[in-house]
Amino acid sequence: MVTLHFKGKKLKGELRVPSDKSISHRCIMLGSLNRGEVVVKHFLRSEDCLNTLKAFVELGADVTDTGTELIIKGKGKRSLKEPFNVIDLGNSGTSIRLMAGILAGQPFYSVLTGDRYLRRRPMDRVAVPLRMMGAQIYGREGGKYPPLTIIGKEKLRGISYKSPKASAQVKSSILLAGLFTDETVEVTEPAKSRDHTERMLRAFGVDVEENGLTVRLGKNRELAADLEIDVPADISSAAFFIVGALITPGSEVLLKSVILNPTRTGILDVASRMGADITVLNRRSVSGEEVGDLLVRFTPHLKATVIEGEEIPRLIDELPVIALLATQAEGETVIRDAAELRVKESDRIKSTVENLNAIGACVEELPDGMVIRGKTPLKGGTVSSFGDHRIAMTLAVASLITEEPVVIDEVDSVSTSYPSFFDDLSRLLS
Ligand code: S3P
Repeated sequence: MVTLHFKGKKLKGELRVPSDKSISHRCIMLGSLNRGEVVVKHFLRSEDCLNTLKAFVELGADVTDTGTELIIKGKGKRSLKEPFNVIDLGNSGTSIRLMAGILAGQPFYSVLTGDRYLRRRPMDRVAVPLRMMGAQIYGREGGKYPPLTIIGKEKLRGISYKSPKASAQVKSSILLAGLFTDETVEVTEPAKSRDHTERMLRAFGVDVEENGLTVRLGKNRELAADLEIDVPADISSAAFFIVGALITPGSEVLLKSVILNPTRTGILDVASRMGADITVLNRRSVSGEEVGDLLVRFTPHLKATVIEGEEIPRLIDELPVIALLATQAEGETVIRDAAELRVKESDRIKSTVENLNAIGACVEELPDGMVIRGKTPLKGGTVSSFGDHRIAMTLAVASLITEEPVVIDEVDSVSTSYPSFFDDLSRLLS
């Protein structure tokens, strides 16, 4: 139980939020399949990414942690070995789904599991196409839920997959399995999801072609490069301070080196439609990704907006904190086409609606989103994170403007993506 109340304080100062979770996972995975040396700077040392690191060490990867950098000495995509034990990926959906793709191409037996939240998340979205490629994948409830048992094949079949979801995890899992076949491998999505896998595969020398919403592996599928990757700050973590600063009178924060990959910047487009005072400074490219500094100031007159369709995958992880932002805007904000939120670390439609209403907001639940009535004063109250890091951080940010304290059942889950969240928050409070 944690009691938070920061009413009357504002957020002031400069902050580099921790590094991007999606990219940090991929550094370990692709670096281990690479033939060559990868130096990773600003690796995110959160529980999810450390679980990926541990898993690849169990699979035989050679990773040295210098304290400031990770050095991965890759011995090629055929160098992984059968793990001696069950691999526990904790809370991390990205780890289990992307690793399923890699392990589909390994001619050995492996078992992937996770915490009680991960074991309730659907895996058929990757198991179905990976089985079509020739891997044997078993799981609970007819193969749907972890623990997953994977018996891979040295040579998989190709696939032309029309993904029913705009999901980078599904797309990436198939592309990674596709490294273990010479046949056609292509994925078409209904809308563009984050493209870090494609970018990083290219940086390692793999041919990846893109045609509209279709991504296809080309002829060269060997990763062979000596690379230095500097991981930018995660916009999904910056989101909490973006919203915190926008809703808290007197705030002004400079968020440094935030990833501005266009598949990730939906929150900035939404904020801009709402009239938010955000300036992007010092736009630049770092390790193949766009990066910039965000100057965010308190904005008293925010306007409601509609968030739907192709914009959803570009801000999927930010929706709980965007819903909080919408409680302070003029008018009714509608979020739809976001049913995917129901199968995240928690059912984020339910956890967001219940919690915001518990602290005095007026939010209506939709099957695929929510309607948020704006300009509601938040009073505070007792809430639950549902064991979900992003819900815990959203509620902590809410406590900047609630009349009374916000009492949260647990906040340890923040270490999934942002272990220093509360230190950073208290540093910016003044
Ligand atoms: C991620 C993809 C997204 C996102 C998750 C990270 C990734 O999930 O929600 O936090 O790193 O590929 P989906 O691809 O399932 O939408």
